[in-house]
Amino acid sequence: MNIKSKIIGVGFTAPEKILTNKDLEKIVETSDEWIKSRTGMSERHIADEKTATSDLATGAALKALEMAKIGPEEIDLIMVGTVSPDMFFPSTACFVQNNIKAVKAAAFDLSAACSGFIYGLSLAKGMIASGEAKNILVIGADCLSKLTDWTDRNTCVLFGDGAGAVVLQATEEDTGVLSSHIFSDASKTHLLQVPAGGSRTPFSVEVLEQRTNFIKMEGNEVFKNAVKGMERAIDAALNKAGLKYEDVSLVIPHQANIRIIESIAKRMKLPPEKVFINLDKYGNTSSASIPIAMTEAYASGKLKKGDILVITAFGAGFTMGAAVIRWSI
Ligand code: ACO
Repeated sequence: MNIKSKIIGVGFTAPEKILTNKDLEKIVETSDEWIKSRTGMSERHIADEKTATSDLATGAALKALEMAKIGPEEIDLIMVGTVSPDMFFPSTACFVQNNIKAVKAAAFDLSAACSGFIYGLSLAKGMIASGEAKNILVIGADCLSKLTDWTDRNTCVLFGDGAGAVVLQATEEDTGVLSSHIFSDASKTHLLQVPAGGSRTPFSVEVLEQRTNFIKMEGNEVFKNAVKGMERAIDAALNKAGLKYEDVSLVIPHQANIRIIESIAKRMKLPPEKVFINLDKYGNTSSASIPIAMTEAYASGKLKKGDILVITAFGAGFTMGAAVIRWSI
């Protein structure tokens, strides 16, 4: 029997506080014009000092469960894609499990940077296909503002905080996640990383002085690799599903940069209405970007039952992936 995974609920949370490009002009030497023209971003949501990644993830999970109309006790597994966990351990997923009272679930975090949600979806699909789990919560959640060097204009204008979640359920219907393809190119780990604060270079006075506990990125190189990586991922996932560009109803790419998204759309010959973009309002929310966009696309009527959705992401590592989904709600 071929057991598939269908999405039965989606939801997201973004912190209340909004940081606009104009606000950033007061923090670093930048301009609204530069940020908009180079990235497409206008504003992003930033968590306050009391809010951790699991708080946002919990909000997103509860909304997804509400839409799915199933109780937390029916969840078999909670996976949180995150690179900004509340703590090194326990996992952010364990905090979420306790918050939502998903008493029988296994819970763990998955570190694949901005590709965390797609990596999670791909693993969840396998767990469901093997019969190991029936209902899985896949969450992408990050508070990159807490890993951001607010004196570095190369990075601080790019990121926002948020969380998005989906409930996947086993089905015998030919719907849900039709295919996924995840891969990594770890020859370029140096181009995007948080160099210190882990076991390689634990926290020290020197780390704090050199600010190496914050995100370091060579934007230009990351840009080129992101375009190539996501194109390769989309082709592989569509190929696995036996589908072509013309079959796609909507593409939700990782919301990192409008110019990256435009390159992908041009190659796939997609009209603007088939590409979902919300990075103007949220910035790059890392692993949360795709489930946030999925929730908004569904709420705004851009995603309807039976539509073929392609999602694709790229992140530090480099990690890459794509999935083809027949929308089922
Ligand atoms: N305001 C004004 N000027 C700036 C800013 C800023 N915020 N940031 C950089 N500049 C300057 C640079 O200093 C440089 O000046 P110089 O020419 O005098 O040296 C100039 O603007 C151009 O800099 P570039 O880095 O070449 O600008 P680019 O067009 O590449 O845009 C950007 C930079 C937006 C970061 C882009 O490269 C990008 O989006 N990269 C991809 C990021 C990404 O996809 N990340 C995904 C993964 S994220 C994750 O996994 C956590």
